Amino acid sequence: MANNKSWQSRMTAEQDSLAVNFVESISYDKRLFQYDIDGSIAHARMLSEQGLITNKEFSAIKKGLEEIGSEMKAGKFSFDVSCEDIHMVIEAALIARIGDAGKKLHTGRSRNDQVALDMRMWARDEADIITELLKDLQAALVELAHKQGQVVMPSFTHLQRAQPIISGHYLLAYVEMFQRDRERLADARKRINVSPIGSGAVAGSTLPLDRKRTAELLEFPVVSRNSIDSISDRDFCIELVFCCSTAAMHLSRLAEDWIIFMTEEFGFIRLSDAFCTSSSMMPQKRNPDMLELIRGKTGRVYGSLVSLLTMMKSQPLAYNRDMQEDKERMFDAVDTLRASLAIMAAMVRTVTFREDRISDGLDRGFLDATALAEYFVSCGMPFRQSHQVVGRLVAQCEKQGIKLAQLPLEAFTSECVSADASVYKCLDPANVTRSYKSSGAGGVKQLKDQLKFWDKQLSKSL
Ligand code: ARG
Repeated sequence: MANNKSWQSRMTAEQDSLAVNFVESISYDKRLFQYDIDGSIAHARMLSEQGLITNKEFSAIKKGLEEIGSEMKAGKFSFDVSCEDIHMVIEAALIARIGDAGKKLHTGRSRNDQVALDMRMWARDEADIITELLKDLQAALVELAHKQGQVVMPSFTHLQRAQPIISGHYLLAYVEMFQRDRERLADARKRINVSPIGSGAVAGSTLPLDRKRTAELLEFPVVSRNSIDSISDRDFCIELVFCCSTAAMHLSRLAEDWIIFMTEEFGFIRLSDAFCTSSSMMPQKRNPDMLELIRGKTGRVYGSLVSLLTMMKSQPLAYNRDMQEDKERMFDAVDTLRASLAIMAAMVRTVTFREDRISDGLDRGFLDATALAEYFVSCGMPFRQSHQVVGRLVAQCEKQGIKLAQLPLEAFTSECVSADASVYKCLDPANVTRSYKSSGAGGVKQLKDQLKFWDKQLSKSL
């Protein structure tokens, strides 16, 4: 026999072993087995309801697929690389097990709509898992903001000391980012959650398939409209990996902040030893390797996004084997993000803000300068002028090695007649954090509002 594959009868030569190994995807798409089995059972049920196979055949197919599924789950199944991919492996095993009825499973179906279906079911579940992980990380950050959110600290722009804030405000900035990541995922999920099955190889089928029924059995609220697009669309993969990329980017910023905050020079936070590593040579070291890996792995997730976009570029319609290259990149992006989110949440739950170290440095960097300029504004001075005045006062303080709050009252009244002793209430970082008035600002009052919002928001399910 020239070849032993049921789908290769028109070939006259046995496939070259290089080709066998080159074309296979079973080594990595086997993780889709449960989706493939669930999709096949739904397809077979629909075929039986449409009279395309008998009820008896359906029962045999269902039982056979379920047995194969449990063997795979138990790790007892041996995957044959010559069957190429998870779809053919399962079908071949089914035929070997139940005989002729198994040969009817592929009625009105192609691997092209089958793989699109499996990937959509997988992507849908992963989107939900990532959403939960993001929510857990948000919850960890909100808990931390409740417990250690009152530490007065500098905010930064250009990594230079800017204005004073309280630590909870800093933490909740990340909660906002992860909320947008969740919302992006929820939106992408709508386009993931569309059933392609019943589109066949490219043009549909002359058999009376009930696509709506199969979709309903698999909990898809929507059936795709165009068979060509259904089997050649990988936008949903790109969107999912894009969502992973923005979340990874946010994680990398948090990781970078904390790597800096952990340095002796900053000393803002202490990470538990459980999440640090030492050096093979320098015995004193506590290194933030987990944070560095989170930062580094972001590149891997972006790499997957660029791979997918490039893989899809210029592919003629409709299905091409290029698309098999989507899987490893998708799996890697999702696995990487999941691991990073989980470890980040665990680290957030053990971190401590070193209030003593942070407050030691609060007098450096004139954090209250902007508040002073705004004080002059409230006395009637145009902001551009008050900005200049404070710039001069800062230069004067720098020369004398003092802070703005140590200037005598005349230093302020000589610049602005209506200034009085109340100016000192807006000087010093802690005072500033109590004086913020605009909503969303970095102060004590605003943190209370934000925490109330997030406590409520996170108690809801998305
Ligand atoms: N393993 C293939 C993939 O991942 C399945 C589809 C194969 N279809 C085909 N016509 N060769 O894309």
